[in-house]
Amino acid sequence: MDYRDYIAKKLNTEGVAASDIALPPNSEMGDYALPCFKLAKLFRKSPVQIAEELKNSFHRDEVISEVSAVNGYLNFKVNKAGLAAEVLSEIENAGDAYGSSAVGNGKTVCIDFSSVNIAKPFHIGHLSTTVLGGSLYKIYKFLGYKVIGINHLGDYGTQFGKLICAYKKWGNKDEVEKGGIHAINALYVRFNEEADEQMEAEAREYFRLIESGDKEANDLFEWFKKLTLDYVQSIYEKLNITFDSYAGERFYTDKMQPVVDELKKKNLLKESEGASIVDLEPYGMPPCLILRSDGASLYATRDLAAAIYRKNTYDFYKCLYVVAYQQNLHFKQVFKVLELMGKEWAKDLVHVAYGMVSLEDGAMSTRKGKVVWLEDVISKCVEKAYAVINEKNSALDNKEEIAKTVGLGAVIFGALYNNKIKDIVFSYDKVLSFEGETSVYVQYTCARANSVLAKNGVKVKLPKGYEPNAQEFEVVKSLAAFPQTVLDAAEKYEPSLIARYAVDLSQKYNKFYIDCKILTAEGSAKDFRLALTKAALQTLKNSLSLLGIGVPEKM
Ligand code: ARG
Repeated sequence: MDYRDYIAKKLNTEGVAASDIALPPNSEMGDYALPCFKLAKLFRKSPVQIAEELKNSFHRDEVISEVSAVNGYLNFKVNKAGLAAEVLSEIENAGDAYGSSAVGNGKTVCIDFSSVNIAKPFHIGHLSTTVLGGSLYKIYKFLGYKVIGINHLGDYGTQFGKLICAYKKWGNKDEVEKGGIHAINALYVRFNEEADEQMEAEAREYFRLIESGDKEANDLFEWFKKLTLDYVQSIYEKLNITFDSYAGERFYTDKMQPVVDELKKKNLLKESEGASIVDLEPYGMPPCLILRSDGASLYATRDLAAAIYRKNTYDFYKCLYVVAYQQNLHFKQVFKVLELMGKEWAKDLVHVAYGMVSLEDGAMSTRKGKVVWLEDVISKCVEKAYAVINEKNSALDNKEEIAKTVGLGAVIFGALYNNKIKDIVFSYDKVLSFEGETSVYVQYTCARANSVLAKNGVKVKLPKGYEPNAQEFEVVKSLAAFPQTVLDAAEKYEPSLIARYAVDLSQKYNKFYIDCKILTAEGSAKDFRLALTKAALQTLKNSLSLLGIGVPEKM
């Protein structure tokens, strides 16, 4: 149990939730604290006065042994032995499920993520959406939601006409079969560099052929799609990510007309220079383009159809779109149009926006043709992980396997550690450091805990009534905070909270490890420390697993 929850329930005060209760960095004043500043407006009183009043009405019990009001904070001291015993036995019983809950109650959450573009590079820019979405998927599942992962493929548009045209002119079957997505991409790039008027016209014709169901054009298109999917799926496998649906933009081809009809019927569609739009000026936005003057649909049209389809098919409680912040306006427009159409569920659509990822040397821009393929970033990280591990402990068995787990973890953790909206610069050296805020550090802490437990060799037993010392209690409090951290991460769509948590718990465990002897301790102290080690290991594993990261036994 997280005592924040306990305290919040016991306070039973308007405006106070478990997540408002903080764990102060220094526990001299209290183990938990409620800052009352936020409440001042609600109660029209000063924070100092609110803290004082709450203190007076709070009854101490066997869990909370002391309450004080200091400078607008309400501080709580808990019964350390009680909390320790409770948390450790809860973790022991729950195991891999520690931190999970049933709050989701089977409600459905759709997560649109990764959403690759067929025949285009799967590059470092896709890292965040892929691992963020992958982690949210695991987090919501852990909380008892039914999750539908959707890869809204970018498989619609004139670029496929261009591709077919380029293939017919310069390509050949074996080369494309062998080179896969790289070969297709090269053809596409070549088209953009070399195509003349006539080829452009041919490309438009091929696109029309795809649209009208021409067999040859569609076979080629499906082939390009398959090669792209084979490629991205091998990456998803490495990253521990799965999808429940690959319904991409093309899937909505026959589902857009009904949307257009409905917009018309509801008097939302306007003519503007031959195009059909929904006017969003009253909402301070440019118009949402629905049909071009030649009758062609747009990205937004397909997203409208997709949202309606998802609601009808999955009856979601929430539908998340894990897409870069560059598309903020697009989603604001699409959500607004749905709202204007009278879809009351438009409020359940959430754009989970994130920042840009670039590499240290500035490589990333597609414009300069300097694409950094995600696959290369991953292999380079695994390669470097091998070197790092080898240097630290060359006697390890199966270093290759370990390097994979460590290298992949570093790529994922590097993308998830910061608040998602921040632009990040990816640095191999930084994400692979044993010291610092990295998955390597967390994994190393796990290896340390594993080795303590392995040396002990006997079953861990929890002593009764043990009064933890300061370092031990810091670990206990951190362990107790895990379930609430998972809930917060889901509520804020912010896996970084779990990544930060894992680093924080590792730091506390390591401080305990250095300050307190474990294996040479005696009696109940030894028993308690082993139990604490086991619980920390379990909780670190659970944290990393929610991010999609594994833990090697040894490092
Ligand atoms: N394929 C798009 C891109 O790479 C992302 C699609 C996001 N999902 C959506 N429903 N619009 O920019």
